[in-house]
Amino acid sequence: MLAGKRLLLIIGGGIAAYKALELIRLVRSAGGCVTPVLTRAAQQFVTPMAAAALAEQRAYTDLFDLKDEAEMGHIRLSREADLLLVCPATADLLAKMAAGLADDLASTLLLATDKHVMVAPAMNVRMWEHPATQANVATLSARGVHVIAPEVGAMACGEHGPGRLPEPAQLLSAIQARLAPQGPLAGRHALVTAGPTHEPIDPVRYLANRSSGRQGFAIADALASRGARVTLVAGPVALATPAGVRRVDVETAREMEAAVMAALPADLAVLVAAVADWRVDPAPAKRKKGEGAPTLALVENPDILARLAAPGPHRPARVVGFAAETHDVLTHAQAKLAGKGCDMIVANDVSGDVMGGARNTVHLVTADGVESLPEASKEEVAAMLADRFARWFARP
Ligand code: CTP
Repeated sequence: MLAGKRLLLIIGGGIAAYKALELIRLVRSAGGCVTPVLTRAAQQFVTPMAAAALAEQRAYTDLFDLKDEAEMGHIRLSREADLLLVCPATADLLAKMAAGLADDLASTLLLATDKHVMVAPAMNVRMWEHPATQANVATLSARGVHVIAPEVGAMACGEHGPGRLPEPAQLLSAIQARLAPQGPLAGRHALVTAGPTHEPIDPVRYLANRSSGRQGFAIADALASRGARVTLVAGPVALATPAGVRRVDVETAREMEAAVMAALPADLAVLVAAVADWRVDPAPAKRKKGEGAPTLALVENPDILARLAAPGPHRPARVVGFAAETHDVLTHAQAKLAGKGCDMIVANDVSGDVMGGARNTVHLVTADGVESLPEASKEEVAAMLADRFARWFARP
């Protein structure tokens, strides 16, 4: 499955480094080549010899190790790979990457590469949740680095929470999804938005809605499993990132718009997010009760769907919008299809408990008419939709 593909695996200095050894074995079994690079700290946890033995090729450890450094060996190493994966990505390595430091072989390779970079962070929960680490991860995501979200669970340090490295088999799936996508959407880039947006009122309050993000995440998952390279721009939700999907977290509608535009070009855009139609001009300090009931002046948010669907060189070949309606579902959906200029509106009746619930009934509204899908779980709806989207891109 990975025959002929080359992975440059940068192993960081954390207890999870042992899983990187197992990953080398899995990538080799799948037919791929692995060039291991160990940071100085990584060598406290695993040895270059173990990595080299499993990779069946030399493991690199330092900038001045490269025999052909005179010929810019670090440039060669980082460019001859098909993919770079930092695993485990420690807080320190993420900070170096975000800052663009290049003071050892690993960081130099990451700065010199012109290839796609994935990071699999693993660290203590407090280090992961520290605003500095989160800001670094956001910076890297915005630059197109694929962040494989850490898992929640018991950690080697005795604490519990997000920070665990996913199992090597899952890491292999993420690598395969990138290097050897299979399925009708292989080679296509799909952009999905999901979840609500939060619009701040003051530093402690915000406007939100009931969207759980579940339908959008299920669609991202279904598209990825049909071979698409998926960028998922997610509002604040409590959901795990589907395997192989690049996720960019945002809070407000304007952040979502910026993340969507930064992810272009795309072949397919499926905008499922329940974007707040209005934002508040937020107060710089907390609004106090004693000051009397405030009047919130609302300002209209940008319409991401309309912007994306407008004719132009960056318009994805197909743009799909969602319409949550409580009455006259199809009439409103048809008006939205024309008004926003998209190729399909997936209309759902949210007069029941659809928002945040597990099941959904949707109607696909296109210029050709309306097709109603049977009531199903959000995952089943996602599969049916992904199959229909795949038909748009079917090769003869
Ligand atoms: N959408 C968007 N940007 C916005 C608002 C909505 O991209 N600022 C997208 C949603 O992701 C969804 C579709 O547009 O795909 C929903 O359309 P919209 O007209 O905003 O729906 P409602 O808010 O329900 O509109 P209305 O109040 O007119 O029914």
